[in-house]
Amino acid sequence: MSHPIPVNQPLLDGNEKKYLNQCIDSGWISSEGPFVKQFEQEFAARVGRKYGIAVSNGSMALDAAIAALGIGAGDEVILPTFTIISCAVAIVRAGAIPVVVDCDPDTWNMDVSQIAAKITPQTKAIMVVHIYGLPVDMEPVLAIAAKYNLQIIEDAAEMHGQTYQQRPCGSFGALSTFSFYPNKHITTGEGGMLVTDDQSYAERCCSLRNLCFQSDKRFQHEELGWNMRLSNLQAALGVAQLERLDEFVARKRQMGQRYTQLLSDIPGLQLPVPRTDYADNIYWVYGVVLDASVPFDATEAMRRLRQHQIGSRPFFWPMHEQPVFHKMNLLQHECCPVAERIARRGFYLPSGMALTEQQIEQVVNVLREIME
Ligand SMILES: Cc1ncc(COP(=O)(O)O)c(C=O)c1O
Repeated sequence: MSHPIPVNQPLLDGNEKKYLNQCIDSGWISSEGPFVKQFEQEFAARVGRKYGIAVSNGSMALDAAIAALGIGAGDEVILPTFTIISCAVAIVRAGAIPVVVDCDPDTWNMDVSQIAAKITPQTKAIMVVHIYGLPVDMEPVLAIAAKYNLQIIEDAAEMHGQTYQQRPCGSFGALSTFSFYPNKHITTGEGGMLVTDDQSYAERCCSLRNLCFQSDKRFQHEELGWNMRLSNLQAALGVAQLERLDEFVARKRQMGQRYTQLLSDIPGLQLPVPRTDYADNIYWVYGVVLDASVPFDATEAMRRLRQHQIGSRPFFWPMHEQPVFHKMNLLQHECCPVAERIARRGFYLPSGMALTEQQIEQVVNVLREIME
């Protein structure tokens, strides 16, 4: 009798309980507690940045990044169409205009060769998003950004512990962002972080996350901010999880390699690229794409997996195909064939940190069966 296999399950068996108990014993549970500072400092150091600003989630981190960089009405920001909606929402809510590029058919990351053609006098920034396990090819992006004087916002939500040419992901943006949702390599339940080397951006993000209270006249506001604070309880989890990041990354790589080993003889499945010349895949999630030869789509494949109690998730739905943006007269006439195809043909398999070798074998056996 096989047991259900969730699409994700975190591992919380390090110092999490100990640090949470310290919060409770000391009474420090709000964002003023000492684990918040510790988590910010240790996380920023880990990605080689001067400042870390802990926030309530990775989506709000993007909102803060856009606001801190002063991007607003009429400005254009280039981003991949194949990403989570948080990226485009941050741009649109600021009154700016999202401009999308398609993705690469092999890595599923933004096709950096399409960026230059999208630049106009209104372009202010490129939002780089590392997708699923491999980083975006940063060298050409950095060259374009320097040439056209554009800011880089780096969404490294899925990339804790990953590097591009040995340099940590999260070290490339004027502001770079992370998420600590439970499906991430390290989790705080809900949580996020901005990192930067620029003191003024760091101060601005600190103010924005805390309703733009002023130090001298606390309840008089010159600007609108948000409450996007991270609590000491969440940061305590973060500190404990960060202690194990290297172990978690190694574990994810092992899982990815094992899936690839077992799946490679199943016809009709495109598997993740194991490595490029700038990075080894970190397999945040283990995605697969059904070839044109397969007579059903991702929705049907996931339905079949569900019948066998195996969790899965669809790939992102492209930003230029989002009804909400069409209603706002945004991104209506874009054509990004690669993202459109993989959104319909792609899904990911159970990829959580707690996944066992036995579960991987069970998933592969079922997938093999449903592909026949
Ligand atoms: C690339 C990317 N950016 C942003 C986010 C948003 O993070 P959160 O769920 O913490 O708001 C996610 C979440 O999975 C993500 O994958």
